[in-house]
Amino acid sequence: MATILAIETSCDETAAAVVRDRTLLSSVVASQIDIHRPYGGIVPEVASRHHVATLGEGISTALDRAGLGWAGIDGVAATCTPGLVGALLVGLTAGKTLAMVHHKPFLGIHHLEGHIYANYLASPDLEPPYLCLLVSGGHTSLIYVKGCGQYQTLGQTRDDAAGEAFDKVARLLGLGYPGGPILDQLAQTGNPKAFPLPEGNISLPEGGFHPYDSSFSGLKTAVLRLVEKLRQEGVDPLPLADLAASFQATVARSLTRRVVACAQAYGLTTVAVGGGVAANSGLRQHLQQAATDHGLRVLFPSLSLCTDNAAMIGCAAADHLNRGHYSGFDLGAQSRLDLARVMELYAPMAVA
Ligand code: KG4
Ligand code: ZN
Repeated sequence: MATILAIETSCDETAAAVVRDRTLLSSVVASQIDIHRPYGGIVPEVASRHHVATLGEGISTALDRAGLGWAGIDGVAATCTPGLVGALLVGLTAGKTLAMVHHKPFLGIHHLEGHIYANYLASPDLEPPYLCLLVSGGHTSLIYVKGCGQYQTLGQTRDDAAGEAFDKVARLLGLGYPGGPILDQLAQTGNPKAFPLPEGNISLPEGGFHPYDSSFSGLKTAVLRLVEKLRQEGVDPLPLADLAASFQATVARSLTRRVVACAQAYGLTTVAVGGGVAANSGLRQHLQQAATDHGLRVLFPSLSLCTDNAAMIGCAAADHLNRGHYSGFDLGAQSRLDLARVMELYAPMAVA
């Protein structure tokens, strides 16, 4: 068993948590959304400065709430990739410093591996192999999870990530930031069949479509053209709920189709979902329906574990530490790193 103090500062949430294997002992998340909202998106320098201001208190609160002193902590973990480098550096430096001062092993964690591990906190009986649909503000990937640190990306977006598409469509509808939760809420009262929209298939040179890769920029443009057309026709106010519901259903249908095709092709019967867009009610409904229709087990973390948090980072770190993996203190922050290369973050623990 490994008890981890974990830190997450890759984007706009300052988060700290204490996790024992697959059990969450405490989790603190301070969102910066209100600070970035006036800019319509995240301002990297502002994010870094805010992490510096709030991380110390988050770490103390997480330790207090877990009821543990340093003697009860086996290792310290921090997200080191992918993300905003300045923001990552704040958590990484804090984590390395605490590990050094308290003589604990340090682990840098890949943020996307963290999103995958949120599922172990939610469903402790989950075991590889399974398919993970990772849908966040920066990523849309279908990942074959073979084991701890062993990932094969089978499909990804060719342009915008799913969360990015939600954010951009919300912005063009004048709905504010971040767009995902706002559109999700609006879609509840709209008709998902009101406006047919393109799913965004990737053509293959040899003909047909890529079965697992997705594209959302064409869908975003289609919504833009539709809004322009409705305005030209004098439609006022815009049918926002119907637009939101139609857009959301198109994203959900497109992702669900790819999940089912991929799971069937690779003989995987369990699908775990992770990332901020896993909180989307339309996606949840479509995937649950697909689970019933195709005999799949579909797992979702709770809403607070879908969006960025440090508990998922701690859960991934505990699994790595239990296997003797730890990082050097010279580990740096990287804006991106292929998930297939995650084991490069670790050295095997020296046997005494
Ligand atoms: O995983 P996350 O918290 O941060 C990244 O690692 O990117 O994901 C944030 C993204 C944002 O684009 C946000 O709009 C989207 O997740 N999101 C949602 C919902 N809640 C958050 N998208 C659709 N429906 C939601 N309910
Ligand atoms: Zn994330």
